[in-house]
Amino acid sequence: MSIVIPTLPDSAPFTAEQRAWLNGYLAGLLAAQTQRNGSAPALNGTSAPAAAPKKRLLFLFGTQTGTAEALAHKLSKVAATRGFAPEVKGLDAYEKINWSEEKRIAVVTSTYGDGDMPDNAQGFWNHFKTDAAPKLNGVTYSVLAIGDTNYPDFCKAGKDIDARLEQLGATRAHPRTDCDVDYEAPAQTWLDGALSALAGPEGSAASDSIAPAVVAPAEAAPDTAIAKPWSKTNPFPARLITNRLLSGSGAIKETRHFEISLAGSGLAYEVGDALGVVPTNCPELAAEIIKTIGCTGEEPVTVPGAAAPIPLLDALIKSLDITKPSPDFIKYIATTSKNAEITTLLEPGNSDALRKFLYGKDILDLLLLCPGIPWTAAGFAAQLKKIAPRLYSISSSIKANPEQVHLTVSVVRYTTNGRVHKGICSTYLADRAAEPATVPVFIQTSHGFRLPADPKTPIIMVGPGTGVAPFRAFLQERRAIQAPGSNWLIFGEQKIANDFYYREELEDLAQTGYLHKLTTAFSRDQEAKIYVQNRMIEEGAEIWKWLQEGAHFYVCGDASRMAKDVDAALHEIARTHGGMSEDESKAYIQSLKTAKRYQRDVY
Ligand SMILES: Cc1cc2nc3c(=O)[nH]c(=O)nc-3n(C[C@H](O)[C@H](O)[C@H](O)COP(=O)(O)OP(=O)(O)OC[C@H]3O[C@@H](n4cnc5c(N)ncnc54)[C@H](O)[C@@H]3O)c2cc1C
Ligand SMILES: Cc1cc2nc3c(=O)[nH]c(=O)nc-3n(C[C@H](O)[C@H](O)[C@H](O)COP(=O)(O)O)c2cc1C
Repeated sequence: MSIVIPTLPDSAPFTAEQRAWLNGYLAGLLAAQTQRNGSAPALNGTSAPAAAPKKRLLFLFGTQTGTAEALAHKLSKVAATRGFAPEVKGLDAYEKINWSEEKRIAVVTSTYGDGDMPDNAQGFWNHFKTDAAPKLNGVTYSVLAIGDTNYPDFCKAGKDIDARLEQLGATRAHPRTDCDVDYEAPAQTWLDGALSALAGPEGSAASDSIAPAVVAPAEAAPDTAIAKPWSKTNPFPARLITNRLLSGSGAIKETRHFEISLAGSGLAYEVGDALGVVPTNCPELAAEIIKTIGCTGEEPVTVPGAAAPIPLLDALIKSLDITKPSPDFIKYIATTSKNAEITTLLEPGNSDALRKFLYGKDILDLLLLCPGIPWTAAGFAAQLKKIAPRLYSISSSIKANPEQVHLTVSVVRYTTNGRVHKGICSTYLADRAAEPATVPVFIQTSHGFRLPADPKTPIIMVGPGTGVAPFRAFLQERRAIQAPGSNWLIFGEQKIANDFYYREELEDLAQTGYLHKLTTAFSRDQEAKIYVQNRMIEEGAEIWKWLQEGAHFYVCGDASRMAKDVDAALHEIARTHGGMSEDESKAYIQSLKTAKRYQRDVY
């Protein structure tokens, strides 16, 4: 028997990414139909020989904000067209996996915090790094790590998992690939190599784009941005309809409320998701850089993703990151200019001093510090990374705001060397994306930062500063669906007079019975600083009571300090009010995470 695998013709009106996704989708449908009635519909394609046994392949993802999860699903669909029977699971499912039966594993993981495991991989890692971890002899595997070279511990979670699987007896079938923010192309290359190696000697050629056998259905992907026509690589040009200052005139921080129209996009989201924004740079900064390197801006340069060279000025405004100096840029400029100070700071053991030196400095600062380099336009552009999209926690419910998405953004502006430095994306939204201009956006589906399935379940939300964003969305959603569960928001900022974001809305929610408790911590309204974690300790007995009643606990906002302090406060509450030892409190908090009752959206 031979079957026909349908593929869309190249002339079909889709982008390569859309076509690839649709082909995968059709392949899945075909497989399902083949299983049901033993025949395959002939659409347009090539004949393939009779079915060979499919090889089970377990994709495991570690994710914080959903990228690795969406990528694992996308890659599994390709694997399904190459003779594999893939299944996709989060690393948080590690206890439910029968490790002795798995023969092929593909790990796709991000890194978070300071080289840490993403939240959904922490329980897995705590177990796997101990002697209690299962032996993995007979397992073949490969790891795809996604990260960001701007972090000192680039792709550390992937590196750690890769090394540990080998220590546990598994065989690395294909070397790990560490991807920077532009992960799509390296991920595809890794997949080709990994599938070929994991297939074993009798396996199909990995470069085949069509399976030599019946295609296996991948597990249904969640409703991810990557599986839709509008995506990170193909963002929807949305209209910015509101740009309003939330902070008062005397505030130190500038925090803004944005409303963006999704009309005509077909995009939808759930509360807990984030919006990806693809910004452009400040044109004045681009012009200043061009002047400093002695170019005109008209020189043609090559940029990643562009079919043909574009003028340097365009590249510096639209394509390349012209603010954050990457590690490669710093090395290049130090070597080429022979700058003794930076060269010394780059030596091993000086990373803290280097970080202090770089704090607040952008690419223009370094160019001015290292004069005399004979830059060419092409040589300069080649030293820059692509602008990375920024994520923002969505602060609206689509049920309360049809076809709209709202953001709550702290605008980055600070002065170094007498010059105002502007965060790329927050000032793009605040200053440069004025109506009727469009903002390229995509939905980043969250991995598990979600309201409880049962609307009666109480929730505690700790969201200082812009961390309030997803909780405004949660509260709007709970009102829209008339959820009876109790809602407690713990909000904090500097001063009540300037920084009580959404005060009227929150008071209205309280009056209408959808905000049952509002606790605030304004750090600078009294001599001693008071933060949300201090309020948590004060309210410890009540928090413990809510947790005993099944409350879900959420944290959003600053990852570097606040989220750690809130985590410590939660452990302290379990010890003080739950009578637990230190170890018991750790086990209890981990059990909340495992039950998805403790969720974080921290950055
Ligand atoms: C899942 C997720 C959700 C997020 N949600 C939100 C949200 O709801 N609201 C929100 O506002 N942000 C949110 N962020 C952060 C957001 O994505 C951006 O990182 C933020 O807006 C800054 O981006 P930017 O392009 O404006 O600044 P960039 O160009 O990236 O510049 C920021 C950098 O400037 C430097 N810097 C900043 N301030 C100073 C200073 N005072 N002195 C010296 N150097 C300084 C730091 O190096 C900092 O990393 C979220 C991030 C993630 C990952
Ligand atoms: C707060 C924060 C911390 C991060 N820390 C690291 C890090 O230490 N090392 C690294 O390589 N990447 C780091 N990253 C980059 C992420 O790994 C990268 O954005 C990845 O694509 C996120 O994938 P996910 O959505 O699956 O979690 C960090 C990102 C954020 C927002």
